[in-house]
Amino acid sequence: MTIGIGLLGLGTVGAGVAEILATPEGRHPLVAELELRRVAVRDLQRPRTIRVPAELLSSDPAAVVDDPAVDIVVEVMGGLEPARSLILRAIAAGKPVVTANKAVIARHGEEISAAAAAAGVYVLLEAAVGGGIPIIEPLKQSLGANRIQRVSGIINGTTNYILSRMAAEGAEYAAVLADAQRLGYAEADPAADVQGADAADKIAILTGLAYGGSVPREAIPAEGIDQLDARDVTYADQLGFVVKLLAVSQRIETGTNGDPQLLDVRVHPTLLPRSHPLAGVNGVFNAILVEGEPVGQVMFYGPGAGAGPTASAVVADILNIAGIRQATGARAVDGEPPGIDPLLAAGSWRQCRLVDGARTTHRNYVRLRTTDQPGVIGRIGTCFGEAGVSIQSIVQFEADSEAAEIVVITHEVLESRFRQALDAIAALPEVQRVAACLRTL
Ligand code: NAP
Ligand code: HSE
Repeated sequence: MTIGIGLLGLGTVGAGVAEILATPEGRHPLVAELELRRVAVRDLQRPRTIRVPAELLSSDPAAVVDDPAVDIVVEVMGGLEPARSLILRAIAAGKPVVTANKAVIARHGEEISAAAAAAGVYVLLEAAVGGGIPIIEPLKQSLGANRIQRVSGIINGTTNYILSRMAAEGAEYAAVLADAQRLGYAEADPAADVQGADAADKIAILTGLAYGGSVPREAIPAEGIDQLDARDVTYADQLGFVVKLLAVSQRIETGTNGDPQLLDVRVHPTLLPRSHPLAGVNGVFNAILVEGEPVGQVMFYGPGAGAGPTASAVVADILNIAGIRQATGARAVDGEPPGIDPLLAAGSWRQCRLVDGARTTHRNYVRLRTTDQPGVIGRIGTCFGEAGVSIQSIVQFEADSEAAEIVVITHEVLESRFRQALDAIAALPEVQRVAACLRTL
């Protein structure tokens, strides 16, 4: 029995999906059962990289969702609206949805999940995080027995490409970004990538899966790489670290007696020791490190974006749904729902809340621009010491005739103490400015 696919979007990912559906040879036999029946685009006149019969194209995505020939709706158009409304429309019509849209899931995931559970339909989103890397299903299923302690990852390919080139070439951020845009590795509007919002969307989704309860997307602190100075990448290298845009979701307290779990979820440029499992992830590649009890550390690595890898994840979700439809076809014909994803049905099973940032502990990298005179390092050390901040290393780098650059790496310290020390240091007459402040693992 052929299954009708309605594609909302025929851009990078949509064209990748259409390509797989058009070339089933050598793939799973179920791919040959999938038939592209309608495709929504914004501009019907736009030249396409993939040939799709003109009669399948429509500029009305709601008509694609409503078409009785469409059994599964694949949302790869992006953005919040009309994507959210179209997903809900498909669910209301009893049609399973596959989406790659992390922005909509990170902000409206609970609403969508509740609607899907109530209607008894699947909403699968493997492609929304890590492109071609299977991470959603492993967190939902394969690692389900674990107490997850931390999920950390490099989950934005654009910024990892820029950071890798900054490290390899000592190049400035703006120059590498311009080159990445020219080569097609960064979008014309790279704001969501370089400011950390894309990674924050993705870590919000992983948090919900890892800990069984969502946190408000807007409350996740996200710092990007757009303010990063090439000299910090170079100094980090000289000190044995690499700089990566890390997304971290960590359980601070398990929350007993019905209290919510306390989580620390954030995105920021981070110094990783070269020996760290994520330190060798370069270019547009992504990797996610999951730490759980009893499994220990499990790392997922691969292409985090692009037409082929992302379509690979989208079509895998379609095949999951198609396989279940085939297995439960008799029940579906009887008018019963084909059965919903048991973990989706469970929805949120724990409450979560975000920790107050001042109560978190971190190692820190600080670069100070100071006058070059006797006693400056001593006074900086005193400020740290009086705030109870232990220094791991303090190094003076060559700057210019007007200033010295002093880089400090602290031991792990309570954020409030670190901020207290920084305020005192910034007030020292010899300190011209706190030029950079980065987290360190
Ligand atoms: P894209 O290249 O910009 O394609 C978007 C497609 O949706 C285009 O075909 C566009 O039509 C169509 N579209 C947009 N708004 C529409 C509307 N209101 N009505 C009808 N059609 C509309 O985007 P993409 O890179 O494929 O990304 C799609 C989704 O996948 C996004 O949620 C993105 O975050 C996610 N994703 C992308 C990647 C990746 O590597 N690109 C990886 C993982 C996840 P026109 O062609 O006529 O403009
Ligand atoms: N813009 C994203 C990235 C790809 O650079 O990783 C889509 O998730």
